[in-house]
Parts: sequence; C-alpha cells; structure tokens
Amino acid sequence: MKGIVLYISRCGSTRQYAEWIGEETGFPIIDLKKDKEPDLCGYDIIVIGSWILAGKMVAHSWIKKNWHRIENKNVFVFSVSGDVPDEEIRKKYLDASFPNGIGSRISFYSFHGRFRKEDQNILLRGMLNFAAKFEKEGNLANNLVLGVDGVKKENIKGIIDQIKRLQ
Ligand SMILES: Cc1cc2nc3c(=O)[nH]c(=O)nc-3n(C[C@H](O)[C@H](O)[C@H](O)COP(=O)(O)O)c2cc1C
Repeated sequence: MKGIVLYISRCGSTRQYAEWIGEETGFPIIDLKKDKEPDLCGYDIIVIGSWILAGKMVAHSWIKKNWHRIENKNVFVFSVSGDVPDEEIRKKYLDASFPNGIGSRISFYSFHGRFRKEDQNILLRGMLNFAAKFEKEGNLANNLVLGVDGVKKENIKGIIDQIKRLQ
C-alpha cells in the first residue's frame, strides 16, 4: 500500500517524528505549511502529524476541511506535545481536536515533543512565566518554563507496527 506523511511543525519536533516515520515506511513527507493541498491520489495510507497548541492539534482544521478527500483511506494521526502524553492526555487531545465523529475513524497516537525557551519569543516566555505561577510543580506550564525534550525515535514503534501490518 502506498502512503504519505503530512505534518505541521513550529519548532521541529513534529517534523522529526514525520521524518522518522518516512524513513521507516518509505513514505514521502510533506510540510502542510508549504503545500496546503497536496495531491493525495493513489495513496491508501495518510499519516498526519501536528503539534499541540492550547490543548488541540494545530492540524485539526486542515483535517476537518480535507476529510472528504481522505475518509475512505487508512488515516493515522499523531499529536506532539509538551505534556507527557499518557492515555488520559492522548484521549483529551483526541476529543478536543475531533469533537465531531472524525476521532472514531482515525488511528490516533500522541508523542512527547520538545520545548526550548530559546525558541520562543519574549511575549510567550512572559505568558508562560505568568501561567506557571498558578500551576503545581510538574504541571504543563511549569514544564514549558523549564523546557522539555521527550523526542525519541522509540516513541513511533506503535504507529510503525500498525502501518506495517497494512503494507
Ligand atoms: C503557544 C504554545 C502553546 C502550547 N500549548 C501546549 C498545550 O496546551 N499542551 C501541551 O502539551 N503542549 C503545548 N505546547 C508545547 C508544544 O506542543 C510542544 O513544544 C511541541 O513539541 C511543539 O512541536 P514542534 O516542535 O513541532 O513545533 C505549546 C507550545 C506553544 C509554543
């Protein structure tokens, strides 16, 4: 089966996961910020990755808008977040990003991402410092203030195994 990997990344961790998935499957990868309407004809497997902004996948609106083009294919979606995505958090991102039924028709994975203070502008750093004052130690805003890096190739094992079972 032919497949393609589409992604939206801000600082590179989602792109890194997309590249690893591309290497493991042989699928081409496309940056949706550069090519908003890629040709999907002839692809049976569509993998879409995006970072999490305020609890939701940034790519959720692209997926909704393009759902009619991909709904009859095998659709895999992965989120990349600052929070460590345990099962509860994975479910939270899935429900927040796809409240309209699409969520039950995709295979959804969540990967831990990367957040470096030096990649952020002064306004965002100030907002995070402010938000962290109201958070308990170990909570998301605190982790983002301190910085976090959970990007590891081993995190894609589950999605790769599932894709390989189709190929
Ligand atoms: C403005 C902003 C809001 C964010 N909101 C969240 C969030 O609500 N939950 C979360 O887990 N991570 C959040 N993050 C962290 C990113 O999802 C994380 O750093 C991710 O790895 C970024 O992916 P990228 O490197 O592909 O851009 C946020 C980051 C930014 C810059």
